[in-house]
Amino acid sequence: MCGIVAYLGNKKAQNILLEGLKRLEYRGYDSSGVAIAQNYQLEVIRSAGRISCLEEKLIELNLFGSAGIAHTRWATHGAPTEKNAHPHQDYTGKIAIVHNGIIENYTTLKKWLIKKGAEFKSDTDSEVVANMIGLFYDKQNATDTQELSDAERLEKALRLTLAKLAGTFGIAVICKDLPDTLMVARRGSPLVIGIGDDEFIIASDAAAIVKHTTQAVYLGDNEMAVISRDGYVTSTIDNQPVNNKIEEIEYSLEEIELADYTHYMQKEIFEQPETLRACMSGRLDLQNKNIKLGGIADMSRKLVKARKINIAGCGTALHSAMVAKYLLEELASLPVETDFASEFRYRNPIINEGTMQIVVSQSGETIDTLAALREAHDRGAHTLGIVNSVGSTIARETDCGIYLHVGPEIGVASTKAFTGQVAVFTMLALYIARRRHMSQYQLERYIDAMAKIPDQIETILLLSEMIKEVTAQYCDRENWLFLGRGYQYPVALEGALKLKEISYIHAEGLPAAEMKHGPIALITPEMPVVFIATKCDQYDKVIGNMEEVKARGGQIIAVATEGDQQIKNYADHVFYVPDTLDELQPLLTVVPLQLLAYHAAVLRGMDVDKPRNLAKSVTVE
Ligand code: M6R
Repeated sequence: MCGIVAYLGNKKAQNILLEGLKRLEYRGYDSSGVAIAQNYQLEVIRSAGRISCLEEKLIELNLFGSAGIAHTRWATHGAPTEKNAHPHQDYTGKIAIVHNGIIENYTTLKKWLIKKGAEFKSDTDSEVVANMIGLFYDKQNATDTQELSDAERLEKALRLTLAKLAGTFGIAVICKDLPDTLMVARRGSPLVIGIGDDEFIIASDAAAIVKHTTQAVYLGDNEMAVISRDGYVTSTIDNQPVNNKIEEIEYSLEEIELADYTHYMQKEIFEQPETLRACMSGRLDLQNKNIKLGGIADMSRKLVKARKINIAGCGTALHSAMVAKYLLEELASLPVETDFASEFRYRNPIINEGTMQIVVSQSGETIDTLAALREAHDRGAHTLGIVNSVGSTIARETDCGIYLHVGPEIGVASTKAFTGQVAVFTMLALYIARRRHMSQYQLERYIDAMAKIPDQIETILLLSEMIKEVTAQYCDRENWLFLGRGYQYPVALEGALKLKEISYIHAEGLPAAEMKHGPIALITPEMPVVFIATKCDQYDKVIGNMEEVKARGGQIIAVATEGDQQIKNYADHVFYVPDTLDELQPLLTVVPLQLLAYHAAVLRGMDVDKPRNLAKSVTVE
């Protein structure tokens, strides 16, 4: 949530910061700003609204300074106005900061700072950080007997401030006395230091860095860095030296460009055949008919012997976990509990020896999922992360893990990450199952069927125009139901979430049979009901549920198996998907629902990639 970019080098900071902000706009987009050091002054320019509004101001000003910090905001404390936009300056005007996260004790700190003479201009929690650094920086000037340089004073002021903060932060600091220095710190909110030729680009997300360099240092939790034109020094916030290694950013610029697509969501839906091939590559061993998962090799025994598996995640990631519950129970005969990550640590989850805790997250930074991971770890569980973003906090903190390898996901509505997560869970279930009891013959059936999935998705994508035409007939309806049984129940939840988040249509996903226990009262000829009704064990039961809807005049759109003619007796419209094994069907059936949501949003004139009130990565509770 929110994006930070900072630059120190020999180019005009303005252009690099702006370009970086645009790459991070998917992280938050209600206001933005920059602070650039120039002529021993800080030029602080902010704007409410999209980054294009800030850009207009900057083009006019054409600042030349070569060091600066920038921010794109997703409001938590204070409305999305210019005065609440970052950077925030301290009351002396010497310091400017940008902040991601939430300062939980800001009210107490604010009162204390006001008593000390600090003034506040915004409604944000972040401004206390600027004022406190400013106060410590200034006070040391007056009281320190020891001769400290300005840089040492600023560093000390920053450390004193960080020690007093409760909550989460990724922070970048600039001071008008120090135009050749930036300081950054993090707790719970990611920061990456990109190391270029005679320049540093620091960002909350590697997407803002990759154009300039692929060499980066990922700052660990409770660490900070002092960056000057000569280099950078990292340490813990309480001043212990740390030696972060330089890593290669794993993706390329092309992967985060829109190319010929209109929206990132559209691009990511259409990329799925390719991203799934990448996800399965080297893991689905077609020659030896085997599953290889290098990232969990060391934990293999513990996994196979596990007595119970817990899986926590949020939103779409949780829906993939719910598919995994069916998969792991069915294929590996393992009891599985799934949890909203946000609920997990506030109840009393039972974790015994033999509990394997899986956390699933596209970004690897979702705060609730991270907190669930830490809770499970503290209670003694072995932990496994299923994450897309390489080097993210969750990926670093789990005992072992499996990356999705589906490439960066920019669209706020998660699509290719979902299919990647389900594919990884399927391979994991097969990996465990084969080591427990599954015969090689059975395994080969699954492997062969999985290998066909990317091509099968390609055929579903050809339906896009037809799905658009059907969607156009219903996209003015404000209430929708999505129903499925078994493996298709989590897909129904996912279809409803997609529609909600980008079209602002109210939609509910339910197990099809649950409809009779209440929601059936909603059904009228005005209500589109989407059934995921593929040929599977429960097909006849789903048909029964469709009859119930039909009898009440509901409009039915069905996702069904190619060749199924019977379904046409019940459904007003059918989106056909190729046949596959029951366990693999979610990988196919979700695709028409992603397309339906995408077209509904476009037809309703919504901003698909920047939906109202949302941000790509939720790093606050
Ligand atoms: O990065 P994560 O996978 O941890 O994110 C979890 C959810 O915030 C995310 O899936 C969210 O629900 C998406 N906007 C859904 O499309």
